[in-house]
Amino acid sequence: MTEMAAVPAVVEINTVAGIGNLPLNNEKGTIFRPFFLYNYGFIRLISIGLMEGNSSMISTEIAGFYHFYPSIAAVIGASFENKTNFMAAAWHTGVSHSPPLYLVSVAPKRHTYDMIVRSGEFTVNFLPMDKLTIIHGSGIVSGAEIDKVNKLRIPLEESIIVKCPTIESAYAAYECRVVHRYPAGDHSLFVGEVVAVHSDGSLISERGMLDPEQIDFAMYLGANTYISANPDSMRVLPEDLETLINVR
Ligand SMILES: Cc1cc2nc3c(=O)[nH]c(=O)nc-3n(C[C@H](O)[C@H](O)[C@H](O)COP(=O)(O)O)c2cc1C
Repeated sequence: MTEMAAVPAVVEINTVAGIGNLPLNNEKGTIFRPFFLYNYGFIRLISIGLMEGNSSMISTEIAGFYHFYPSIAAVIGASFENKTNFMAAAWHTGVSHSPPLYLVSVAPKRHTYDMIVRSGEFTVNFLPMDKLTIIHGSGIVSGAEIDKVNKLRIPLEESIIVKCPTIESAYAAYECRVVHRYPAGDHSLFVGEVVAVHSDGSLISERGMLDPEQIDFAMYLGANTYISANPDSMRVLPEDLETLINVR
């Protein structure tokens, strides 16, 4: 990787100390990495420049790892003392069929974290692309400062087992009771037992999966960017290896 001219510049960014870079690919696969050095607090960008190289790269300075995106942008709900709050979450997954367990990774600094710890419950809501205002809105402001249910006009649906409601406009939602909590770096992993599933049978295809012809999935790509799935890209593959390796 070669370094191109460093241009002195002064820009103020409110972030933490360190050295940052952001890869930008051009059509030829070349990576241009604007790099900047900054100090703590109200950041003074003291140097900015471009490093050029080919697109293949291995780094041990992990500034961010978002290569597992796109990820369904779920909305996690929690209620405590008659207050309900929601936050967007891209870090979540099912982890067990029996018992049915769902994992969400929530940073302790989130208001939702305290509410889940105190109530021992949460809901996971899956909303389509046309509800991005709720999805993204719940991910950019904190329930510690604002009543997101009112501000974002989130339509609530009563849960049947847990106290926290689900979101009415979700194409599916889980009611979960926390069974484990594991610290994981700057996040905590809540494993919830799924005690009720809300779903609309008419959105399930004949093959038993969510129907991408009917649901415009909202997936997070990072950097405030969302993308949906193109149903034309769907491929159904054979289950046996011999047939599979002959599929083109
Ligand atoms: C698309 C998206 C995905 C996010 N995923 C997570 C996540 O998985 N875990 C997390 O702790 N925060 C995540 N966040 C950040 C929180 O949603 C955000 O900090 C939110 O304002 C927290 O709200 P709260 O303080 O009311 O809990 C995400 C934000 C966005 C926009």
